[in-house]
Amino acid sequence: MEGPRTPAYWDYLRLDRLLSLQGGLEGDEGRLMTDELHFIVVHQVFELWFKLVLRELRLARDHLAAPVVPEGHVPHVVHHLRRVNEILRLQVDQFRVMETLTPQDFLAFRDKLIPASGFQSFQLREIEILLGLEEEARVPFGDADPIEVIRRAAAAGGATGAMAWGRIQAARGETHLRGALEAWLERTPIHGSGPADPGDDATVQGFVADYLAAYAGNLEAQVPRMAASLEADEAMLRGRTAADVDSARRFLEAGDVPEAQRPRRRRVRAGALFIESYRELPLLAWPRALVDSVVELEEMLVLWRTRHARMVERTIGRRMGTGGSSGVDYLDRTARARVFGDLWTVRSILVPRDLLPPLRKAEVYGFAARR
Ligand code: HEM
Repeated sequence: MEGPRTPAYWDYLRLDRLLSLQGGLEGDEGRLMTDELHFIVVHQVFELWFKLVLRELRLARDHLAAPVVPEGHVPHVVHHLRRVNEILRLQVDQFRVMETLTPQDFLAFRDKLIPASGFQSFQLREIEILLGLEEEARVPFGDADPIEVIRRAAAAGGATGAMAWGRIQAARGETHLRGALEAWLERTPIHGSGPADPGDDATVQGFVADYLAAYAGNLEAQVPRMAASLEADEAMLRGRTAADVDSARRFLEAGDVPEAQRPRRRRVRAGALFIESYRELPLLAWPRALVDSVVELEEMLVLWRTRHARMVERTIGRRMGTGGSSGVDYLDRTARARVFGDLWTVRSILVPRDLLPPLRKAEVYGFAARR
């Protein structure tokens, strides 16, 4: 009697199917030039990694979106994000493989791709949406919204187009990582006080006021030294310092967002500032690792975009892309957008440890109160 069949390596990985998917466009099977096979394999590998990135981001988001995130779950979030970061780091390096394609070798088959383009990578758009990129922050290309480009391509027909558009729409209905992160940051205990505690608002305002005073003091103390060493006008430097303090105040008081959103945004930003500032406290060890991994994720994505743009410039110069964008100019602009802008801004207003406002209720964070 025949027992259950044990799978072979090629069964488990479905290699028969995987290795038959590099045929190019209909009719190209069996007669692809090596350079085109290379072009397809590199893109497919990227898309496979994107698939895993999406899975990891959703898992990280699920942990973080819980109404209460037990301390023991934060390491899971960090674990998923670290994997995403390693994948992106690897991808940045993988552009080197793409660069073995010379400009002329690419020109030999480039025209037949038109209008296909990485612009239609619905998985990259899903990643942006799941991270929480604001619609207004997405760089338009010409008059068109990049998402609209996918909708139009999908409307032209075909099952994959419908699937691509369906995935974009579904992702738009999901909680994004930034939203989940902000809800979690909002609950950060500040001087031992959480949002539900009596007097929390006053505690947070006190923390912000003390912090701003420390920040202003720190900047002002630098002025005479800078004026002397740079032979610069002290009054001019004082003016700049005052402008920096004003913009820090505006940020911490959330003056840049509509009034109804200000109380929440103030607490989110104060939470992020608190974690960054008192990052050595035992209770904040994992929260700071989480914030670091999110900042690193955005850093890797910016590096990805910058690296892709340089590879594109090297291969096709500054000509228009097959998707119809201005090419390198467009790509460089996408590298300036930020999803987690608040986390970056917090880094501009940190003060040295010895100037930090004294921590209150230190015992909450795992230390016996300092004498
Ligand atoms: C010779 C190789 C490549 C060239 C010349 C190239 C060129 C371009 C250009 C010009 C654009 C701008 C849109 C357009 O007008 O087409 C673009 C977008 C894009 N490309 Fe590439 N690309 C190459 C390789 C890759 C690879 C290996 C990937 C990996 C998946 C990739 C992914 C993307 C993505 C995701 C976008 C959209 C970026 C955004 O809108 O934010 N490209 N590419």
